[in-house]
Amino acid sequence: MADSLTKLIAGNWKMNGLRASLFEVEKLASKLTAGAAPRCTVAICPPATLIAAMNQIAAPAGIVVGAQDCHPAASGAHTGDLSAPMLADAGAQLVIVGHSERRADHGETDELVRQKAVSVLAAGLTPIICVGETRAEREAGTADAVVAAQLAASVPDEAADDDVVVAYEPVWAIGTGLTPTSADIAQMHKSLRDQLVKRFGAKGAAIKLLYGGSLKPGNAREILAIEHVNGGLIGGASLLADDLFAIISAA
Ligand code: PGA
Repeated sequence: MADSLTKLIAGNWKMNGLRASLFEVEKLASKLTAGAAPRCTVAICPPATLIAAMNQIAAPAGIVVGAQDCHPAASGAHTGDLSAPMLADAGAQLVIVGHSERRADHGETDELVRQKAVSVLAAGLTPIICVGETRAEREAGTADAVVAAQLAASVPDEAADDDVVVAYEPVWAIGTGLTPTSADIAQMHKSLRDQLVKRFGAKGAAIKLLYGGSLKPGNAREILAIEHVNGGLIGGASLLADDLFAIISAA
């Protein structure tokens, strides 16, 4: 049932990309429109500076554009921040919230991540809510408990009625070339699914669960075939059209 969900392949460009990089999106768009329509939803979350320009290239090819973070308030005296309504206005449809790099670099808590997710939903967008354990937590055997606590506190009650996406991204797998075993991914995604169903019932069965962390063309087929893996959040390998297209093809 959960695996009948349309997969979501979402690129996270992080703090990478200038207008010249939109060439890669043009390349991906022409690959996607040349053949049969992909059986998954394709999204890219560029730096906010590129959202509007990317959307002009992406939208005609059916590529969804997203953002990487937002402020929990809709407007106000918050110099340098961007709100969910602003990102929507620029053309974003998705917003990543609670990425481990923001949790680590900016001290973001589960409660702040939850508030951000609420603001994203209020703006009519879909949050991709990230959870994941550190290497020390995995080695200490607390990965399940850590991720369960993040899930409980970061996913807002509004998910009962509105669409949210959850991304499991083990911190130690991000940008390292390391990935958990398929058995470990399967176990974590099953556990996330069970918790969401327990909390939200049928709606919890329909929440997409993405895997993220060194997802690449070489391991995409195996990882995306795991039960309760409903897509991927892809950093490094999303920067090049060829790599992202290979992952889309694997899905
Ligand atoms: P990576 O990043 O694919 O480069 O490991 C994933 C992420 O941080 O979303």
